[in-house]
Amino acid sequence: MTLDLPAADAAPKKTLPDAQTVTSVTHWTDSLFSFRVTRPASLRFRSGEFVMIGLPGDNGKPILRAYSIASPNWDDELEFYSIKVPDGPLTSRLQHIKPGDEIILRPKPVGTLVLDALLPGKRMWFLATGTGFAPFASLMRDPETYERYDQIIMMHTCRTAEELTYGAELVQNLRNDPLLGELYGEDFAKRLKYYPTTTREDSPFMGRITDNLSSGKVLQDLGLPPISPETDRAMICGSLAFNVDVKKVLEDFGMREGANSDPKEFVVEKAFVGEGV
Ligand code: FAD
Ligand code: A2P
Repeated sequence: MTLDLPAADAAPKKTLPDAQTVTSVTHWTDSLFSFRVTRPASLRFRSGEFVMIGLPGDNGKPILRAYSIASPNWDDELEFYSIKVPDGPLTSRLQHIKPGDEIILRPKPVGTLVLDALLPGKRMWFLATGTGFAPFASLMRDPETYERYDQIIMMHTCRTAEELTYGAELVQNLRNDPLLGELYGEDFAKRLKYYPTTTREDSPFMGRITDNLSSGKVLQDLGLPPISPETDRAMICGSLAFNVDVKKVLEDFGMREGANSDPKEFVVEKAFVGEGV
């Protein structure tokens, strides 16, 4: 006798083209959340790249936006870290997704914040404001980053301390990561330095990234040697104004902007496109 059992483990039927299923959602503040989705089997990307994701619009046309992949390229799932813009066409809706829901994901990763876009060096600076942290959430979790650089310094600045929580927790988890622990042991704390600052609320470290770099405060606080174009490399991801100002600071240190096709000492990507830009 055969029993007609329902296929309990059958994959849920996908209803959207390029659909991926949400597996978890975490709300960090009123305006920030992260979520994980299934990864298309064929999707290969370099840690630091971004893809277009979205939801179907009311007129049937998808609302798509660029999103940095926050998970590393070895992860089975994809993670994203998102703003909630109150009247934003996408995020006013995306912020309500739940596990089991579907989002659209166009599997064409691109971007400049990739290790290959820089000349070899010894020390890497990841410089981010707000959700500009996302590509570095990917790169910091990729063992290749530590193979290429002796030391990584993650500078992340937000207005308030609660906006730093996603990044702080991610770095804490990395410090307890068994694989990185096995590879680098006690040395890992020296290899990954984390320098979170706030600008509009008291916290252990304060100030804009531009000021903390040009004054040398970050070097003093972390006990690091001076920045030099021979040894230092950097990746920048924030608002347009932030990117322009940090670029100038790095150029004052003698560093030059590079690209995938022309690797140099630093690369830049916008964390978002501002109004009127
Ligand atoms: P939009 O109409 O797209 O934006 C409305 C306004 O909100 C913008 O004009 C701007 O002033 C502001 N805004 C938009 N995004 C942000 C933001 N991230 N931080 C602060 N202010 C913002 N967004 C993410 O949340 N996470 C990411 O990983 C991410 N990666 C991106 C990578 C690239 C290369 C680019 C160009 C943008 C990225 N963005 C990211 C921004 C994203 O594409 C959308 O703009 C954002 O999701 C808001 O969409 P929306 O339709 O709700 O509002
Ligand atoms: P500040 O509070 O001094 O403006 P925003 O939320 O406006 O995008 O800013 C996110 C963080 O980036 C804030 O801490 C802000 O500092 C900082 N910031 C904004 N613009 C710049 C800039 N041009 N140079 C350096 N830091 C900046």
